[in-house]
Amino acid sequence: MRLLAIETSCDETAAAVVEDGRRILSNVVSTQAAIHAPYGGIVPVIRGAMAEAQVEFPELDAVAVTQGPGLVGSLLVGLQAAKAIAWVHGKPLVPVHHLAGHIQAPFLAHDHIALPALALVVSGGHTSLFEVPEEGTYRLLGRTRDDAAGEAFDKVAKLLGLGYPGGPVIDRLSEGANAEAVEFTIARIKDGRPDFSFSGIKTAVLYHVRREGIAPVADPSRVPDEVRDLVASFQRAVVSALVRGLVRAAEVNRPKSLVLTGGVAANTLLRREATRAAASLGLPIFIPPLELTTDNAAMIAAAGYVGFRKGRRAGPGLNAEPSLALA
Ligand code: KG4
Ligand code: ZN
Repeated sequence: MRLLAIETSCDETAAAVVEDGRRILSNVVSTQAAIHAPYGGIVPVIRGAMAEAQVEFPELDAVAVTQGPGLVGSLLVGLQAAKAIAWVHGKPLVPVHHLAGHIQAPFLAHDHIALPALALVVSGGHTSLFEVPEEGTYRLLGRTRDDAAGEAFDKVAKLLGLGYPGGPVIDRLSEGANAEAVEFTIARIKDGRPDFSFSGIKTAVLYHVRREGIAPVADPSRVPDEVRDLVASFQRAVVSALVRGLVRAAEVNRPKSLVLTGGVAANTLLRREATRAAASLGLPIFIPPLELTTDNAAMIAAAGYVGFRKGRRAGPGLNAEPSLALA
């Protein structure tokens, strides 16, 4: 079974062809920032994915598309394209929730993930813990009460003049820096729910910058040590809050496996610390390879395959849902 998936919920325009929810025949991602990239715009991205997979439209079994959440204008671009292809070629259209895509991403690379799983989805828009009792079923356990973790990375990077997206830059600059230089504490959620909060640390970084008179970085090739130490300390605090939340939820919910996914799951320290925490819990942890952690369409195909087998279909009236809930 061959599925074409389209993902345009945020900055990326992505299309992929995946066989049986598992075998990635193509996975094309075009970032809006890279205007001169060969695949700019949705049509060339889809053409690129089909050509790379060596599949013609009539050979597809279904078209999957991200319905939400995301930016309505971006979502509509993907939805219109998916609807047009499905209608012209008479293929079923499968609506996919963006976070279901992130959660299914590690299933592309691993044959057997024991369920129930506990999934931590950490991206630019979301920081949420889900229980996955069975394939395609997601139960929300906790989430951020304010900023998403990726949003905190992006805002701190912006404040320091490090550019966008902030996560990869902070990840790289933290390497070899002193993560103990600044002591940041991340608020614990008082009512005992497995929720997160990242707006306080962003403000703490801002105060530190003002107090120490740290200027935004002018030359990205020469970042001062005080900035590198600061972002490393920030990263350490965010990562320890994420890992602490994951461990607590695992102790309460007793899953058979852990899943770490979403753009921030590309973070070197988070991958390392979450892997270590899983080992001490005695649980296997599944983290997608780097190209499947940040937004991509292969993960939408994986979730679309699950939805397709559960009978999920959409008609031509399918609408973008900017704040679609998963559970
Ligand atoms: O999942 P994603 O690609 O898009 C959303 O659904 O939001 O996640 C993007 C987020 C951005 O905030 C970006 O800064 C963050 O993931 N990110 C990282 C790293 N790579 C991407 N954060 C920390 N470390 C990284 N290496
Ligand atoms: Zn995402």
